[in-house]
Amino acid sequence: MSNDRVYNFSAGPSMLPLSVLEKAASELTNYRGSGQSVMEMSHRSKLYLSIFEEIKSDFKRIFKVPDTHEILFMQGGATFQFGAVPLNLIGKTGKADYAITGNFSKIACKEATKYGEINVAADSGDRNHTYIPSQSELKLSPDASYFHYCANNTIYGTEWKYVPETNGVPIVCDMSSNIMSKPVDVSKYGIIYAGVQKNMAPAGMAVVVIDKSLAGNELPITPKIMSYKIAIDKDSMDNTPPCYTIYMLGLVLKWLDEQGGTEGMAKIKTKKAGILYDVLDSSRLFIPIADKEARSDMNVTFRTGSDELDAKFVKEATEAGFVNIKGHRLAGGMRASIYNAMPMEGVEKLADFMRAFEKNN
Ligand SMILES: Cc1ncc(COP(=O)(O)O)c(C=O)c1O
Repeated sequence: MSNDRVYNFSAGPSMLPLSVLEKAASELTNYRGSGQSVMEMSHRSKLYLSIFEEIKSDFKRIFKVPDTHEILFMQGGATFQFGAVPLNLIGKTGKADYAITGNFSKIACKEATKYGEINVAADSGDRNHTYIPSQSELKLSPDASYFHYCANNTIYGTEWKYVPETNGVPIVCDMSSNIMSKPVDVSKYGIIYAGVQKNMAPAGMAVVVIDKSLAGNELPITPKIMSYKIAIDKDSMDNTPPCYTIYMLGLVLKWLDEQGGTEGMAKIKTKKAGILYDVLDSSRLFIPIADKEARSDMNVTFRTGSDELDAKFVKEATEAGFVNIKGHRLAGGMRASIYNAMPMEGVEKLADFMRAFEKNN
């Protein structure tokens, strides 16, 4: 890696691949001889539409999106989807099921209560979200319009290792912090959405992959900008889309291809997470926060048991070039977010640093 760059373990926005940033820089003022930046292009221009179409087709291929589903680019991040999902879907029966396994699923659930009757299918808050409920622990309603869960809990460092069985109730999943880290069977989902600022692009939008048969039933109060039906009909261009963020996603998708797509990424992320969990499991100082079976391969959370030592670790790590490693205040301790763009070398060096810190403390 270019030696003036730090290893950024931020939970998001987070690292982008250096080659992507360099490519963007090289095309910044003059996109491939067009004499203009992608930032300056009309979203209706032939040139931008060709960029847009290629990105959608790359996304469809890499994420293996079946023809039943549409890919949408929507502004407002994942939080926008917390409102859009119930507004578009809950009208079917007036009810929905939510699994609460962390802060963001809790917020999503709270937002949905404005629009219908919500059943909390599971809540891991009894053990500060350190585990993921099993299938048999989910209290699902047969008449729910949909079941919502968050695939990876960014703050607590837990990840669902199975796709819940809902007996025909459409599944809606927030994949903000683990999308594109492994292959996903999209056909099992009604909707997958993700804020892009961790594994896909700079902040500014969410990607929504939606089963087209679910669109068109929104509550009458649904703002036009939130309607999945309109977004599908207008190919994400009912208003000006975040053109440059979409372009950046396109560069990241080309980089993903070079890593072997989601299959290649899955091997890499398993190896990276394994390096850090091995350090934690063999340590007498560091304590992993999440239960072993629920551990996230994207956000590795740990602590020492002493607030002072945690603070010392964060301080010394920062000085050594491992930045943004302090845990979220809700979970405490430390969190190393090792999304797709975090190089293997960054993880190996952090592991060495952790072992040395343990020896000295
Ligand atoms: C899993 C998850 N969902 C939702 C959000 C909220 O995303 P946004 O800030 O794009 O609204 C985050 C942000 O970190 C997240 O990690």
